[in-house]
Amino acid sequence: MPALATVRRVADLRAQVHAWREAGDTVALVPTMGALHEGHLSLVRLARREARRVVVSLFVNPTQFGAGEDFSAYPRDEARDSALLAGEGCDLLFAPSAEEMYPPGFATTVAVSGLGEELEGAFRPGHFAGVATVVTKLLIQAGANAAVFGEKDYQQLQLIRRLARDLDLPTQIIPGPIVREGDGLALSSRNVYLDPDQRRIAPALHAVLVSAASALALGAAVSECEAQAREALRTAGFDAVDYVEARRPDDLHRLGPGPLSEPARLLAVARLGRTRLLDNLAVSAPRA
Ligand code: PAF
Repeated sequence: MPALATVRRVADLRAQVHAWREAGDTVALVPTMGALHEGHLSLVRLARREARRVVVSLFVNPTQFGAGEDFSAYPRDEARDSALLAGEGCDLLFAPSAEEMYPPGFATTVAVSGLGEELEGAFRPGHFAGVATVVTKLLIQAGANAAVFGEKDYQQLQLIRRLARDLDLPTQIIPGPIVREGDGLALSSRNVYLDPDQRRIAPALHAVLVSAASALALGAAVSECEAQAREALRTAGFDAVDYVEARRPDDLHRLGPGPLSEPARLLAVARLGRTRLLDNLAVSAPRA
């Protein structure tokens, strides 16, 4: 299989996308930090259905990692990622250096207030400013018709939709469904950090969300379901539960403590050792 065409400069990315669009081709971008797994590849396949040309970006963005987080340890293997992408029919890999993305004197930050400060934003201060800034740059750099983001990082997806609307970015944001292991564990590049005992406990996160979602859909009170889910996660062996919350699906506004009167999204983060596992699930409103 021929090697995947790779560019490292914004100017080269722009020139290629411009040439495709001049020729009448549509272009979809899939932003990633590499360490690709089946979840990423499903986004590439979705992008291929949406557009004639697919660009994948690979950039481990330093500004979205906090002090003491896993920036240095984050798994990196460009050759492997590139081969996987070539196998999926990706047309171009954009793999810039940190200097290309953040040249000396870089001083601009994109922050989405409200949405960017809660849940993950509260546990990882500065994280979403890093995400919003790099994603805004990638969307402007690529000038694609569409960009695909996974629902696994549900709050990130809603934040990106918000910033694209607020900043009039002309790229359609397309969500890709979560891909799970057979036992329910959502695929994540960070699952490689789990030791065998932790890996046995990890699927309980999805199982607990599934049972909380069914209770909510049957009319159970939000506050009770959230508390029961937190307790169930601790009993299952998680070392800590950062949050389990039912929120409004689009803007992630808080809901009242009683039974749902509208559909919701359950979002949870639980820890196994130093690894934070994220998951989320759609919840239907109880039938009237
Ligand atoms: O979801 C990710 O992998 C990253 O947050 C993203 C969107 C590529 C920005 O660095």
